[in-house]
Amino acid sequence: MTLFVPGRVNLIGEHTDYNGGLVLPTALNIGVTVSMSPRRDDNIHIVSDAFDTVAQRTIQTEKSGHWSDYVTGAIKLANEKQWLVGGANVALTSTLPFGAGLSSSAAVTVGILKLARDMSGAKVSDTACAIFARRVENEFIGVPCGIMDQMAVALAHPGQALALNTNDLSYQLIDLPKGTRVAVIHSGHQRLLEEGRYAERKAECDAVKHELGHDNICHATPEEMQQILHLPDHIYARASHCVSEEARTTLAIEALRANDMKHLGELLIEGHASIRDDFEITVDATDKLVEDAVGFGAFGARQTGGGFGGCIVALVAEGTYPKWVSDLLAAHPNAYDVLKVPT
Ligand code: GLA
Repeated sequence: MTLFVPGRVNLIGEHTDYNGGLVLPTALNIGVTVSMSPRRDDNIHIVSDAFDTVAQRTIQTEKSGHWSDYVTGAIKLANEKQWLVGGANVALTSTLPFGAGLSSSAAVTVGILKLARDMSGAKVSDTACAIFARRVENEFIGVPCGIMDQMAVALAHPGQALALNTNDLSYQLIDLPKGTRVAVIHSGHQRLLEEGRYAERKAECDAVKHELGHDNICHATPEEMQQILHLPDHIYARASHCVSEEARTTLAIEALRANDMKHLGELLIEGHASIRDDFEITVDATDKLVEDAVGFGAFGARQTGGGFGGCIVALVAEGTYPKWVSDLLAAHPNAYDVLKVPT
């Protein structure tokens, strides 16, 4: 069985998915195609066009820091659910750059879990597959990520945004407007969630949750914000970002529905300032790229994803896109257009 799973880029709602907030990712038209067939033994045989080696694992293999861990972890979980009994042959073909912050890992884990579910005939929702895929990342890989990426790639189709409430997993799919390009530009500055700074932000938010006595930082009241004023400035600022980002994301969902790109763009710009100044996850390369993306005429732009480099997302009027992108890339020689179709 074969399944295409898109990558995702987040429009707004950053670092809110493990703090009870809203997120607004969109599915990309590039992604990972996962093919899988079950095996009678415990072996996992993985080929990928992105890597030239063939990986041989078993369902007993532990995490090794290798790209194949995502496949192994998902197959182990599929065995736990009894969707698979034993190993599998897996082939991955990707149009998504790995490690660019566009959820290639979620695409792989969600793809394997959905295929295993479908092969077993289990009546389990796509949302449940996303929850299990997050468990692979949290428990097997050891990245304490939220649920946004897995939900986005499990539920949204290319050309759709997913307005997701991470508190109760209720969601709505919204078609992206025609005439506006969602551009994704890589800064050339690599980011790695495993580097630990993501986990550091998560731990800082845990300190806020501890003080508040609940997990929903995004909905902290003004009184609660008063109560945590004694926390170190940088921790208080993390909470401030969560609260202001929730307000922006609420407005962004309305602006997207109303096809108000000007307002949506302004919210993206404000969102970038918040992750730069309050959540402190941007880098020089992405700050400058965002500034120029807007300077060259985008409705708005911001660093997207886990942070510390990686990609920016920008909203650009379709007609102005060719000049916009060529001006931007000329000013930033290390940057590249992630969604550019190879010629
Ligand atoms: C990464 C994580 C997501 C989310 C974003 C930040 O992409 O995988 O769960 O926390 O960072 O918004």
